[in-house]
Amino acid sequence: MIEKKHLLTSQQMAEFVARGFLRFDELVPDDINQAVMRGIDQQVIKGHPAGTPLSECYHGTPIRKLLDLPQIQGIIQSLVGENPRFDHDAIHVREANEGRAQGLHADSIIDCRTHFDIQLMYFPHDVPLEMGGTLLLPGSHFRRVNEMDVAAYQNMRGQIPMVCKAGSVLALHHGIWHCGRQNKTNRRRYMFKLRLNPTVRQLRLWNTDDLDKKYRRHQEMFVGPAKEGDDIRAILGQREPWFEAASGRLEVVNRIKLWRFLTGDENFDVQYWLTRLENVPA
Ligand SMILES: [Fe+2]
Repeated sequence: MIEKKHLLTSQQMAEFVARGFLRFDELVPDDINQAVMRGIDQQVIKGHPAGTPLSECYHGTPIRKLLDLPQIQGIIQSLVGENPRFDHDAIHVREANEGRAQGLHADSIIDCRTHFDIQLMYFPHDVPLEMGGTLLLPGSHFRRVNEMDVAAYQNMRGQIPMVCKAGSVLALHHGIWHCGRQNKTNRRRYMFKLRLNPTVRQLRLWNTDDLDKKYRRHQEMFVGPAKEGDDIRAILGQREPWFEAASGRLEVVNRIKLWRFLTGDENFDVQYWLTRLENVPA
């Protein structure tokens, strides 16, 4: 069991529910970053059969050192529990001056469960804008699409190119729309992706000490990301730039449903949106 201080907070969980990802900049120390890149070049980092307990994976490789970091353990445990299963990994290498980008897509969505997998994306070296990196569309994780069905969409409002320093990590909801951008530098680009399945009910797995804390309320919906002190309801009601003019209510309703699932609080609502839909007088 990981120390509580390494678990996510309720605010971070609300941010994950609202936007479909969390970002941790410069989390991984450089000795691990260097070892992972050497390991990729030497082809010593090998995946496992889908469904293998994560605790049995990657022993003797630098990826194990990465996974054993208490902060990484805290992220994993908060989102998918202490003993998730390995689903698949992918070592994404983009060659220098590679002449193309990947189309916008979502990974392996076969159904529309509320239960979710996570994908960790780990960037072992600095990724400047011209190097590409992963591009994300915040808040897109409830728009379940089949793989590359959205590949024709480009330059969505609010998209985020992952420009980061070495050792940065993304934790993604499996539904989020993303793609690999073009590498326009003369250096190779590395990114390691790992998908994990929960093995426990995803119910209050994070540090819930602040769950009922009264935060500052916003009068208006705001455009993310949330700042420290933001109210959970405000975080779940935040807008993304690509939302339609009518305030993104479909997204907010989906967030409320996921927040109820994660907290077990069946009465939770944001501005009466879901309660209104549940009003079905006989
Ligand atoms: Fe992908």
